[in-house]
Amino acid sequence: MWERAEQIVHQGPDAVRPDDLPERVRQAVRRFGEDSGTTGFLLLRGLEVGELPPTHSDGEPATLPGHGTAGLAMIIAETLGTMIGYADEKNGDLVHNVQPLPGEETRIEGSGSVAFDFHIENVHHALRPDFIGLICLRQDHDKVAATRVSSVREAVERLKPSTLDVLRECQFYSNYPGSFTRDSTVEPAPAGPHPVLFGDAGKPLMRFNSHNTVSLSKAGRAALRALAEALEEVCHEVIMQPGDCALLDNHVAAHGRSAFTPRYDGQDRWLRRFYSIQSVPRSVLQMMGGSRVIPPIPAIQGIW
Ligand SMILES: [Fe+2]
Repeated sequence: MWERAEQIVHQGPDAVRPDDLPERVRQAVRRFGEDSGTTGFLLLRGLEVGELPPTHSDGEPATLPGHGTAGLAMIIAETLGTMIGYADEKNGDLVHNVQPLPGEETRIEGSGSVAFDFHIENVHHALRPDFIGLICLRQDHDKVAATRVSSVREAVERLKPSTLDVLRECQFYSNYPGSFTRDSTVEPAPAGPHPVLFGDAGKPLMRFNSHNTVSLSKAGRAALRALAEALEEVCHEVIMQPGDCALLDNHVAAHGRSAFTPRYDGQDRWLRRFYSIQSVPRSVLQMMGGSRVIPPIPAIQGIW
């Protein structure tokens, strides 16, 4: 499968075939794409990782061009929807390497190693990914770094009706995450106002990042705190092992990471992240010129 997967990435998206996944895995991923259930989370285990270089060499992160896990990411993303990247995040890369970087320990993004609180991916963006995938290539030395997953569908059971009402108000703002502002000298205006909870009361959806979503009202701030606490109470912790692939419904499950201690000896923790989306407006598709990269936010802001 791995040779074939690598070939698929090199041949381009037309050559990706969901049939390349084992039938049982393909069915599970497809079902998850149709209905992610109460937890919004699916863990695939036992996938083959293949040969790996050191996580870093002389402080420079490894990038793995053409590695079989890129093919695996694409097949899974294409089974869920369409694999996408963002022009203003990591140069539009479709597969992101999540590795601790020296000097970035306290950054609240993939290169950090401090605790990363609950968030959905790209909370500031009108075209947030529908699903995110995380493939574990290497664990941290101490095997303590946990991927923390919390479903809004479990959290709402812990919240008062009055708090839920506030979270459904269109009064919240979300700042850009660090991965979108690495190279910019000015802080972009936050996205919003937007609700934090929306959708059917029995199957709520969420737009929330505990680091970046804010409210200008006292009631809004109290509701955000209550949501963060409820997410903490219903958290599932997964210590991901090499060959694990976590899939998250990005509108249902918030995720985070516990702290760990990198050693920068070439054997540090290493995940690969990818995004999948089930629809992109035709107007935006035409601006993408046949690529899988969502244009920069200034190019699409306010067009719908
Ligand atoms: Fe994340």
